Amino acid sequence: MSTENILTAVPHSLGRQEREQHYGHAGAVLWLTGLSASGKSSLAMALERALTALGYSCYVLDGDNLRHGLNADLGFAPSDRTENIRRAGQVAALFADAGLICIAAFISPYAQDREQARLAAAPAFHEVYIEADLPTCEARDPKGLYRRARSGALPGFTGIDAPYEVPLSPELTIHSGTSSLPICLARLIEYVTLHIPLKQSG
Ligand code: ADX
Repeated sequence: MSTENILTAVPHSLGRQEREQHYGHAGAVLWLTGLSASGKSSLAMALERALTALGYSCYVLDGDNLRHGLNADLGFAPSDRTENIRRAGQVAALFADAGLICIAAFISPYAQDREQARLAAAPAFHEVYIEADLPTCEARDPKGLYRRARSGALPGFTGIDAPYEVPLSPELTIHSGTSSLPICLARLIEYVTLHIPLKQSG
C-alpha cells in the first residue's frame, strides 16, 4: 500500500534563516564525483578540515565509509549503485537542510543518479567533478583494486568494465590528475568561500 495518503509532513519550528544565523552560513551539498583513486576522499577530508578551520560547519559522507553501515547491504551492480546514491543524496540533502556543508564523495558514475541527488538538495547542490583520467588513477591504484579488476578478479569495476559518465556541466571541475592536492584544495576553498560565504559575525 502506498504511504502517500496516510503521512503528513511535520513542519520544523526552526527555519532556514535561523539555522543560517546559528552556523554563520547557508547549508549546502558539495558533491564530489570521479573515478576511484581520482582523489575524492583525500580532497573531501582535507576540505572538511580546512573549512572547519575557517569557521564552517561541515561533514563528509564518503562512499567507502557509508558502505560499512547505511549502505552495507549494497554491492556494485548498476541498481545497487543507484540505490547507494539515492540514499546518499537524501542524507546529504538532510545535512544541508540541517544547515551544514555536506561534502559527499562518491564515484556516482551515473549522471541520472547525480541529477536525483541534485534534485533532493536543490538549489543548494554543487556538483564537483574530480577529474583524473583512467591511466592516472590506475597508476596510483592505492588499494590495488585496478590491478584486481584487470586480472578479472573484480568484475564490474568503474572505468574498466563498468561505465563512468563524465559530468557535462558541473559547477566546478578540479583537475586532480594534473594538479597537486594543495592546489586542488585551494581551488575548492576558493569556490566555497565565494559561493557559500561566511556571514559577518558580531
Ligand atoms: S558508487 O559507484 O556506488 O558511487 P562508491 O563511491 O559508493 O561507489 O564506492 C566506491 C569504492 O568502492 C571505491 O573507492 C572502491 O574502494 C570500492 N569498490 C569495490 N568494488 C568496486 C567496483 N566494482 N567499482 C568501483 N568501486 C569499487
